[in-house]
Amino acid sequence: MGKVYYISRNVGLCMLVLAASALATIIALSVAYNKERAKNQGRPADGTSSPPAATTPSAAREAWDSYRLPQSLIPVYYNVTLWPRLEPDADGLYVFTGSSAVVFRCVKETDLIIIHSNKLNLTSFQGHHAKLSGVGGVRVPTIQKSWLVVKTAYLVLQLQGRLTVGASYVLFTEFQGELADDLEGFYRSEYVEDGVKKVVATSQMQATYARKAFPCFDEPAMKAVFNIVIIHHRGTVALSNGREIGLKSATQSITTFEPTQRMSTYLLAFIVSDFVSIESLQNHLLIRIWARKKAIDDKQGDYARNVTGPILQFYEQYYNASYPLSKSDQIALPDFNAGAMENWGLVTYRETALLYDPVESSTGNKERVTTVIAHELAHMWFGNLVTLRWWNDLWLNEGFASYVEYLGADYAEPSWNIRDQMILYDVHKVFAMDALASSHPLSRREEEVNEPAQISEMFNTISYSKGAAVLRMLSDFLTEPVFARGLSSYLNRFAFDNTVYTDLWEHLQQVNVHLPHSVHDIMNRWTLQMGFPVVSIDTRTGSITQKHFLLDPDSAVDRPSQFNYVWFVPIKWIKTGEEQQQHWLLQKTVSGADWVLANTNVSGYFRVNYDLENWNRLLSLLNSHHQALPVINRAQIIDDAFNLARAKIIDTTLALATTKYLSKERDYIPWESALRNLNYYILMFDRTEVYGALQAYFKKQIEPLFEHFRGITANWTKVPTGHTDQYNQINAVGVACTVNVGGCRELIRSWYRQWMESPSHNPIHSNLKSTVYCHAIAFGGVDEWDFAWTMFKNATLASEASRLRSAMACTKTPWLLNRYLDYTLDPTKIRKQDATSTIQYIAANVVGMPLAWNFVRARWSYIFQQYGKGSFSFANLINGITKRFSTEFELQELKKFKEDNLQVGFGSATLALEQAIEKTTANIKWVTENKADVLRWLTEESTFRET
Ligand SMILES: *[C@@H]1O[C@H](CO)[C@@H](O)[C@H](O)[C@H]1NC(C)=O
Ligand SMILES: *[C@@H]1O[C@H](CO)[C@@H](O)[C@H](O)[C@H]1NC(C)=O
Ligand SMILES: *[C@@H]1O[C@H](CO)[C@@H](O)[C@H](O)[C@H]1NC(C)=O
Ligand SMILES: *[C@@H]1O[C@H](CO)[C@@H](O)[C@H](O)[C@H]1NC(C)=O
Ligand SMILES: *[C@@H]1O[C@H](CO)[C@@H](O)[C@H](O)[C@H]1NC(C)=O
Ligand SMILES: [Zn+2]
Repeated sequence: MGKVYYISRNVGLCMLVLAASALATIIALSVAYNKERAKNQGRPADGTSSPPAATTPSAAREAWDSYRLPQSLIPVYYNVTLWPRLEPDADGLYVFTGSSAVVFRCVKETDLIIIHSNKLNLTSFQGHHAKLSGVGGVRVPTIQKSWLVVKTAYLVLQLQGRLTVGASYVLFTEFQGELADDLEGFYRSEYVEDGVKKVVATSQMQATYARKAFPCFDEPAMKAVFNIVIIHHRGTVALSNGREIGLKSATQSITTFEPTQRMSTYLLAFIVSDFVSIESLQNHLLIRIWARKKAIDDKQGDYARNVTGPILQFYEQYYNASYPLSKSDQIALPDFNAGAMENWGLVTYRETALLYDPVESSTGNKERVTTVIAHELAHMWFGNLVTLRWWNDLWLNEGFASYVEYLGADYAEPSWNIRDQMILYDVHKVFAMDALASSHPLSRREEEVNEPAQISEMFNTISYSKGAAVLRMLSDFLTEPVFARGLSSYLNRFAFDNTVYTDLWEHLQQVNVHLPHSVHDIMNRWTLQMGFPVVSIDTRTGSITQKHFLLDPDSAVDRPSQFNYVWFVPIKWIKTGEEQQQHWLLQKTVSGADWVLANTNVSGYFRVNYDLENWNRLLSLLNSHHQALPVINRAQIIDDAFNLARAKIIDTTLALATTKYLSKERDYIPWESALRNLNYYILMFDRTEVYGALQAYFKKQIEPLFEHFRGITANWTKVPTGHTDQYNQINAVGVACTVNVGGCRELIRSWYRQWMESPSHNPIHSNLKSTVYCHAIAFGGVDEWDFAWTMFKNATLASEASRLRSAMACTKTPWLLNRYLDYTLDPTKIRKQDATSTIQYIAANVVGMPLAWNFVRARWSYIFQQYGKGSFSFANLINGITKRFSTEFELQELKKFKEDNLQVGFGSATLALEQAIEKTTANIKWVTENKADVLRWLTEESTFRET
């Protein structure tokens, strides 16, 4: 699945320093989707809802109490017919009906049939919820009793006799379910086109919602073939994983799909809509992009169509395995909870992740489309063709796709240099989380992950980004050709089957080059223990040592590690401009009077510290000749220094000193890295007297960059040609306006005013829209806000709507912010899928933060009841709101909030709340210890000119 708050570059940046919207850091903490509430789900259709009376209360846990299926029955294939109604019934309910026949084999003698079924009303056959028959004359025991177990979402059949090992049976069910707007299972999405409300039936099965569409053995290892038939209105089109092979039209249309490959239930997809498509052929493979008619007519699908073929072709070469299916559909949905979902052959996306308007969209929007497509298509092999046996290994699936998405996107857009950006968007992002004592190892044991909520919790930044970072490191030390060969061997060996992560290590080991330890032993240290090391290099003595890096040096790690927090660290390094041979930690020493830089190109997942003399050599190199260092290492020096300072390993002023050379820096990645780190200073100090000095320093550093862009864009009439230069222009304008560099605010006001005067002619370049909207609204009043709201409601391009939605949170006017908060709980104003992020945007604004906190506290139980079922990310909400918390008073409030709501619960935010308390405690300490030094340093630096 794609990342949910995968925020495109230019959205986060402009506001970063304005502190109106610290998205970039919000995404750092995102949980890809929400825990479902296990309680009160579904109701039995008829008959009993409790186990047979014979069950004694003291008996051991029954099979149906376990969240894992017994391994006695294995599905072979399903025949599933579904009929979604796109109009409400007499009771105002949108429903779907269906039937399913599953052929399964008995592999262990049993008198119980346990199959998943959730929120489905099952038709009764002679008093039972299903019909059972045998394949090929097999004798079938009679059904003694059948019932539904709500907690574990099972349909259970108790048989009078036992099923025979080796024999196959057919279980037939007929059912009715609700086509709700809950974004889970088979659900309903709505949109308005030309004043007419349209309804789409669509699906999201990952991780545990296929059972909400039809009774099935809903675990990833229960692979089967699916024969799908969809009944739908004439004039609508039905899509599923396979290619459509038959269409009969009577009063209703009946679309039949080719049998799927052997696949997992979580990758199924069913969609009925009146969408249209554009298509292309890539070596006879049919590629289609589906969306609302208006979006397709506006050519918003063209870019996706253009890049899909090349990206698929890249993966075929990279994996050395041809695309396993007969077609590739990708569809943009108006309501979608995650960023995208890799359903096999029918990938679903949020509109902003698939649609690109050549005129209206920004470079950041385009990059997002490319990377999300590259991510999802990577899963077509890794994840879909070969699937991890259970959700505890999710990190390998998601980490892998999050790594190779950069390779796929790089192939589609070679001029972007996009592989470097992984440092910012994955490595640095996850360093921030993984440096906390409350982090957790990538790998969990299978028995630790059972309930749907525990499965949902696996979709987090650690899985995605740390997974990506350690795989990148692995690929780097094995070398990419070796990595790809091992991968290909793994994919071909386990095609249509399931694995555990060690299977991949074995296949990589088989094509191994010379390593000091086995792939297995090296990688275990990175996957089975949390965190990462800081490597300290002392150029005076030549010693190199490692230590578990913790952001808060006083926090205690109460989780022992079998490896004692020692890693096998592959170190690449440069000495006075010359690349040195890679070595494994503790094999060699470095010393001398020359500058040394370790972790070249940041290929390793670790931080680096040096002795003060080497730090000073690096600082003077930056100030005199920064191009001597690779661009991502310049970013790395800044990021390492700031984090080492947070951990009290070096002085805060040394970290600040790494930003002095920025007045000469023109590249995006180091600037972005600095802005993100300084964003912490803004969050901690924008309500204190330090803020004045901070702004003055920023102003001095950003002015040359602002002027640089004014120059190369001919007074802002053109756009820089380089991909990342375009991002850095956005940074320059955003920061310059925040700190009031001469001319910036006037420029922005005049653009926005021109647009207000003539709404159909927006004069603002798409790249700069987010920044301009945000600042114009921040420095404007109700007119600017209301204009944005009108344009938001009228927007036909999802990314434009999304820019406006975040910009409206930039206003400094409290009543406008409160009104906006109220809108978030009204789905006719703000779509449910967007509610959480809108509240987060408001909380990121220094004026909005206390309002959002009050809002959420006052309505916690309501929000939890209403939105707890999936579309609301509570973890993101808590993270977003508590980002600035840095006083004893705020810590007490947070603790009180936890106590007051123990009854209601925190669902998927449980861990986030603990982290918020930990982080607030650390912030309080940090501010106490650093405020005076920071104020002094900033004051000196902003008053004296550099020599
Ligand atoms: C499934 O559908 C196929 C094709 O219609 C049919 O031949 C087969 O008998 C069906 N199997 C079951 C168990 O209903
Ligand atoms: C399922 O049955 C219950 C109880 O009869 C009813 O309230 C509910 O509306 C039904 N759901 C659907 C989708 O038909
Ligand atoms: C898609 O490709 C066509 C043909 O190469 C090109 O004309 C068009 O500009 C491309 N569209 C986009 C949005 O990149
Ligand atoms: C940019 O504007 C300034 C002041 O308005 C003017 O002096 C300068 O010539 C302009 N430069 C270009 C390249 O248009
Ligand atoms: C709303 O959108 C329509 C169609 O895109 C456009 O014609 C109209 O001018 C827009 N209205 C406003 C107020 O911008
Ligand atoms: Zn994914």
